[in-house]
Amino acid sequence: MVGIVMRLDVFTLFPEMFNGPFDASIIRRACESGRVVINVHNIRDYATDRHKMTDDTPYGGGGGMVMKPEPIWNAVEAVLGADPPRGSQAPPIILLTPQGRLFTQAVARALTTHEQLLLICGRYEGVDERVRQHLVTDEISIGDYVLTGGEIPAMVIVDAIVRLMPGVLGDPGATTDDSHASGLLEYPHYTRPAVYRGHPVPQVLLSGHHAEVDRWRRREALRRTRRRRPDLLDRADLSQADRELLRQLENEDE
Ligand code: ADE
Repeated sequence: MVGIVMRLDVFTLFPEMFNGPFDASIIRRACESGRVVINVHNIRDYATDRHKMTDDTPYGGGGGMVMKPEPIWNAVEAVLGADPPRGSQAPPIILLTPQGRLFTQAVARALTTHEQLLLICGRYEGVDERVRQHLVTDEISIGDYVLTGGEIPAMVIVDAIVRLMPGVLGDPGATTDDSHASGLLEYPHYTRPAVYRGHPVPQVLLSGHHAEVDRWRRREALRRTRRRRPDLLDRADLSQADRELLRQLENEDE
């Protein structure tokens, strides 16, 4: 056992959705090692009326249902207490919504600095605006498309964060070359056999020449990013050598 590194509290109307993804592989091991504690809370358990209602019709009319504020607020208060810490000590209370700021590797990395995160999964047409204005401290979207709720986005965020935490992946350097870690897509990978169905592994990778391997990988990462996601190059952290490699790649195209 190691000291707890992060506590994650997820608030949802469908806690059973989390059983599969959190019970397998790396997330499971991270929980078993004590590095991560994930608690999934059923918002319905905090409904105040006889029928355990968690949604209601919108004021002003129109279709669809809106998630009521009380069950969400009560659930969050049950975790944080009625007088939660404020300022930099306060754990972020994040609403998953297609209207939030876009989730990226940089956002994942920034979130790993907190000891606790609260993730609220929205459903139906949305969540009562007072939850957004007075309870939530951050709103995140995992992409410009609309899902049936915030559950899968919460799983995506938990997964991206947990794998960045110290000791969760066996190799401490495992995340440094990740696609998006430095703003580029990652270089291609190969393993044995050296020739498969007539397709050989690039010779340089078999050479044992580490500096050349590193240079080849950087060039291939730049090549991939330039071909597939040229938008990333504008924001990537590029050295003088990278810019020279990019110029060579441009010449190769001509
Ligand atoms: N809920 C529905 N769609 C979503 C998205 N794209 N990101 C976060 N939460 C959502």
